[in-house]
Amino acid sequence: MRTKIVPVPKLSFTLAPFLVLASGLLFAAPNAAVARQSAPSAHVSSDQDATAFVNALLGKMTLEEKIGQMSQVALNTKLDEPADEMARKGQVGSFLFITDAAEINRLQHVAVDQSRLHIPLIFGFDVIHGFRTIYPVPLAMAASWDPAVVEHAQSMAAKEASATGIQWTFAPMVDIARDPRWGRIMEGAGEDPFLGSRIAEAQVRGFQGESLGAPGHIMACVKHFAGYGAVSGGRDYEESNISDEQLWNVYFPPFQAAINAGAGSLMSAYMDLNGVPATGNRFLLHDVLRDDWKFQGLVVSDWNSVESLTTHGFASDEEDAAARAVNAGVDMEMTSSTFQHKLAAAVHQGVVTQATLDAAVRQILLTKYRLGLFRNPYVDPAKTASQLVTQEQRDAARQTATHTAVLLRNEGNLLPLSKQYKSIALIGSLAESKADIMGSWSLAGHPSDSVTVLEGLKKRFSSDTQIAYTKGVEIEREQTSIFDEQFTSPKPTLKTDAERDAEFHHAIDLVRQSDVAVLVLGELQSMSGEQASRLSLDLPGKQEELLEAAVATGKPVVLVLLNARPLNLTWASQHVAAILEAWYPGTEGGDAIADLLSGDANPGGKLPVAWPRSVGQIPINYARNLTQVPETADARYWDGPSTPLYPFGYGLSYSSFSMTNLRLASPSVHAGSKLEVSVDVQNTSSRDGDEVVQLYTHQRAGSASRPVRELKGFRRVSLKAGEKQTITLALNTNGLGFWSPQTHRWSIEPGQFDLWVGHDETASDHASFAVLP
Ligand code: NOJ
Repeated sequence: MRTKIVPVPKLSFTLAPFLVLASGLLFAAPNAAVARQSAPSAHVSSDQDATAFVNALLGKMTLEEKIGQMSQVALNTKLDEPADEMARKGQVGSFLFITDAAEINRLQHVAVDQSRLHIPLIFGFDVIHGFRTIYPVPLAMAASWDPAVVEHAQSMAAKEASATGIQWTFAPMVDIARDPRWGRIMEGAGEDPFLGSRIAEAQVRGFQGESLGAPGHIMACVKHFAGYGAVSGGRDYEESNISDEQLWNVYFPPFQAAINAGAGSLMSAYMDLNGVPATGNRFLLHDVLRDDWKFQGLVVSDWNSVESLTTHGFASDEEDAAARAVNAGVDMEMTSSTFQHKLAAAVHQGVVTQATLDAAVRQILLTKYRLGLFRNPYVDPAKTASQLVTQEQRDAARQTATHTAVLLRNEGNLLPLSKQYKSIALIGSLAESKADIMGSWSLAGHPSDSVTVLEGLKKRFSSDTQIAYTKGVEIEREQTSIFDEQFTSPKPTLKTDAERDAEFHHAIDLVRQSDVAVLVLGELQSMSGEQASRLSLDLPGKQEELLEAAVATGKPVVLVLLNARPLNLTWASQHVAAILEAWYPGTEGGDAIADLLSGDANPGGKLPVAWPRSVGQIPINYARNLTQVPETADARYWDGPSTPLYPFGYGLSYSSFSMTNLRLASPSVHAGSKLEVSVDVQNTSSRDGDEVVQLYTHQRAGSASRPVRELKGFRRVSLKAGEKQTITLALNTNGLGFWSPQTHRWSIEPGQFDLWVGHDETASDHASFAVLP
């Protein structure tokens, strides 16, 4: 039997890959016994033992075997040799994109039983927001402002992936993104380094568990180091030009947080950072990562990004690319084969020293050791199926999705929907899409597992409410990316203009005939993620017209958004009574949205990005420096306001909350200590709900200007109806330090600080304190 592999797109990028591996042999392996060389016993656990074990193994390896360990191979790319042969000859250290447990096991057996040194393979996959059960996309997870929920979601994802034999995920993506045109904003935690750092740590803990090799967990890979979120114009893969000040204070912190949380690996980025490609950037991969941060884990390149060093006009040829990547600090090459083909020559010529090569191989072997692969590299394929999309997974996915939704508007408390509404017009093609609701990077998800909004609403409401559904409009996307092929959004069925008109009018008629309308609008799955940047933030297609026509009927309208970037809601924010940002909520999205619309769940998410009014405002992150005339901050454009439509940290609830009595434990604090900041939070409504207490600071003077406000603490709290709690946040003065463009170093500069606590970055409860030396 041969393995079925999805055809490879012409371009050699990423995901496409998605391999659906049928059970059975990839390439029949001869049964001949291969002479076993004895490998040292791996039944040891201390790091010293690990080093001794790895050094002993390293001493036995040939140059070819070492380079093999440094090569990560995707089976849908052109291979010099069949995969089995590569594993048997020790020419591969890792495979990615295999998602069939039996196949993983089989290849592992080839490597362990038949290769000369019996070194196990490591199997990687993009487990970004779920494996088979899809959780809300990472931007949504950040909107929960609840690291515990994020940790749990990623630990559930790890559970499914590890039951399939996957040992390594290429997540979390911790790139700060301040440009919603960039499609990959969906994969990160938004614009803020403090929130981004807390979400990054939570994901690492979730994926990895207590420590590398914890059962039911997988290794995290923090990516893309560094600055990918700042690509020019939001165009994917473009260069990034970031000042040192922004690099150290904004773009680096989530990476450092993930590393401090124990991330076992890190991925380099595709783009040029300030003129030097990230994959050949020794400043990033060595000076910062190894020297400064003492990173002890494995560095993998991004897909083909080593070979691409030539495309960048940086490396002269493949050999130069391989040498530059290794010398910069890349340990393993993802998919391109410059190491396989050219690294040996670079070593022979002394361009890459034996010591540098060994350091990379040692890192890979140590990682495999720490993951326990030398002891037990196998999965039991017979047990896999029973661990996928279990009820436990579905429950967790549903709770995560209700926890991540953000209520942007709720005029007249239209939501939750009153029982008086006896008929609902449900409109929008996304409402019945099982694929789009999963969002991008849901490669192992099965659309058939998804609960659509239509299904969710029917289950929840149809016992006493009539639900009439129609599409209204369909969203079409011109194919612009190789990834489009993998997305399974239903193909448009309305072919002619007359059909489209008729459908549009039919939808508006349904709205007229119903008590309330729920419009599910947004973007197709393929409109965000990799190679999915957008020029416009408008609702694609005729969705805006549909929305305006629905509102014009005079019926109450609820807008539910399925998307993963801020969209143009300027008109909707003034005319649509209720707007619920549900993001791409995943497999259980339809049930979660029904929970939220019915009031079984109460939204408590908050925006992890400031929401622009118009593309022209980008970037509009809240943490910017004050300038000469701060009082006119709202009037810097001739043709519109300069404030965002919704501020960073914004989100409503069906409950209402007050925050009063802000107090500091002391008016001053020594650098390096903590300052307790307390506030009384009360649920002033008759409904249980969640609020996020947010703490912002500003340093009044120093060696450099500091942002007008910066998030430095938060906590999501659940309060019963009427309940009041005192919430105390310990403000860590270490977090007030910054890298100064004057001194070129990081320090906490003593001085006077402002502090605000409230519901979002516009919080008005103010206090001040001094940081003493
Ligand atoms: C390219 C993407 O940039 C990266 O994030 C991903 O992990 C790899 N491809 C593997 O799919």
